[in-house]
Amino acid sequence: MALITYATTDSNWWVLALPAFLGADTLRCDTPMLLLSLFIAFVSLGLLSWALSPGGSAWSHGRARRGIVTIPGPRGLPVFGSLFALSSNLPHRALAALSAAAHAKPLMAFSIGSTPAVVSSDPAVAREILSHPAFADRPLKRSARELMFSRAIGFAPSGSYWRLLRRIASTHLFSPRRIAAHEPGRHADCFAMLAAVAVEQRRAGAVRLRPHLQNAALNNIMGSVFGRRYDVSCPSGIPEAEELKAMVREGFDLLGAFNWSDHLPWLARLYDRGNVKARCAALVPRVSRFVSGIIAEHRLRNPSQKHANDDFVDVLLSLDGHEKLEEDDMIAVLWEMIFRGTDTTALLTEWAMAELVLHPGVQVKLRHEIDTVVGPRCMPTDADVARMPYLQAVVKETLRAHPPGPLLSWARLSTADVHLSNGMLVPAGTTAMVNMWSIAHDAAVWASPEVFCPERFVEAEGGANVDVRGGDLRLAPFGAGRRVCPGKNLGLATVGLWVARLVHAFEWGPAAGAPVDLGEVLKLSLEMETPLTATATPRRQRAAKELGNAKVEKERCLPVDALTVSYTGGIASWVYVEALRAAVTHACR
Ligand code: HEM
Repeated sequence: MALITYATTDSNWWVLALPAFLGADTLRCDTPMLLLSLFIAFVSLGLLSWALSPGGSAWSHGRARRGIVTIPGPRGLPVFGSLFALSSNLPHRALAALSAAAHAKPLMAFSIGSTPAVVSSDPAVAREILSHPAFADRPLKRSARELMFSRAIGFAPSGSYWRLLRRIASTHLFSPRRIAAHEPGRHADCFAMLAAVAVEQRRAGAVRLRPHLQNAALNNIMGSVFGRRYDVSCPSGIPEAEELKAMVREGFDLLGAFNWSDHLPWLARLYDRGNVKARCAALVPRVSRFVSGIIAEHRLRNPSQKHANDDFVDVLLSLDGHEKLEEDDMIAVLWEMIFRGTDTTALLTEWAMAELVLHPGVQVKLRHEIDTVVGPRCMPTDADVARMPYLQAVVKETLRAHPPGPLLSWARLSTADVHLSNGMLVPAGTTAMVNMWSIAHDAAVWASPEVFCPERFVEAEGGANVDVRGGDLRLAPFGAGRRVCPGKNLGLATVGLWVARLVHAFEWGPAAGAPVDLGEVLKLSLEMETPLTATATPRRQRAAKELGNAKVEKERCLPVDALTVSYTGGIASWVYVEALRAAVTHACR
């Protein structure tokens, strides 16, 4: 009885039957022949199983057929499956094309090497996947594991530790009260960015916006997480800020790169493309030194220096009892925030500004709304931004046209068999993705999806009222369900404010010899392949009027919407920017 059970459950039973086929003599006398036969049999069986498995080799043994309805999908190549589609620069487009070709928009099975994966390009199925408790884990990439991200929110397995981290972050970093408490910091970063934009425009006749946005994003998140900001305009750079930027860049490269050995484990020992292991090993101690230094400084701080808008390090240090975190856990959590918080907001703002350069009519309409809401003299604030439906629509349309995480960044992993309402069954251990880019560009979901049209989100003009925070899967760029992006409100507040102030301060136009190119590349986030260069013309006349009362030295002041400073050599300093901001804010009252 035991033997029968063994024979029916072990797929290698055929090895035992080989003597019968080949003959005992052959087995004894001709070892090379035996090995060759074994090899041929092994390869033939592999090919047969691949040929009969929708989804490819990782879906063998009928994995795709376990529900009432089979999950369709391309077989791809033997061994590799559809791995080459995913390792391309634009995997969201490659997967969208594969899903369409396989008539598998609701759900497509495919193989990434030996990893069985599904992808959905349908709002209803996407909702089921993202909100199902058995999809609350994420597959852990090798680079994420080696960079300690398994101890941070994004990659921690769903469980009590992950829930604790999310609760701490939601209460102390992402709650509306905390976001509001850090508004002055956001304005200061924005102010420095506008100043630097004006200087570059004056010097070069056009502006490459991305570095300015990245500097502002880094300071914004450094301010609320570490309570520290840098004077990013300093021409020679500040060593600590330069080290931080280098570490963030290296981390982006390592986490964003497609790592073949994640899906072909046998390759790990033979080939390490990009030298991931050694680079991760070199980066971790640098990060630990940097973050531990800041934690140590916070520990030494006088308690009387603490106040209502303490930074996140203060909050983590103040936790007690079962909430208290080990130092290594704190480092992982803090580092993750820097990572997640910087590129998404900067790159999304860059896309928005690129579309505004390409669509001057939208830009004029948006500026009109901003001027109407904030009045003739003051700069837009968070509260103003909330009263600007057209601005919200521009941000939503940018999220639709260029979702920063087109495959919703980091995938999910099923921890149990999941029965979907369409009769398909996703087995435990399957990597699941939602192709948000494909949904957002589906003509059945959005009319004329290739056209940039914010009006589709303006209710007063017949547009749809879409909750982009995970409530409506037609556009859920922050994901949905229990692992939805916890930074969504902070991200939206930051991008809304930046776009408002950039448009309020300057008129944006195409730069000579650098046409706007909407070509994209997917790294950690979806980026413009050719960073935006545009002209930023200060709105001089009105600004000159606005500056009338500000106590600012004339020779240092450019008439740009009451915000621009002429940075010359070593004069530029954060203190100076802050002083000017205070003067301007005062003038606005
Ligand atoms: C425009 C801005 C942003 C976009 C489009 C975005 C998008 C996303 C997406 C798609 C996910 C995966 C959600 C899922 O699996 O359902 C995610 C997760 C996450 N995001 Fe964001 N994000 C943004 C800003 C931020 C910011 C500013 C922070 C923090 C400073 C942040 C922190 C996180 C974290 C910690 C997770 C992991 C959550 C978990 O696994 O429990 N994000 N984000």
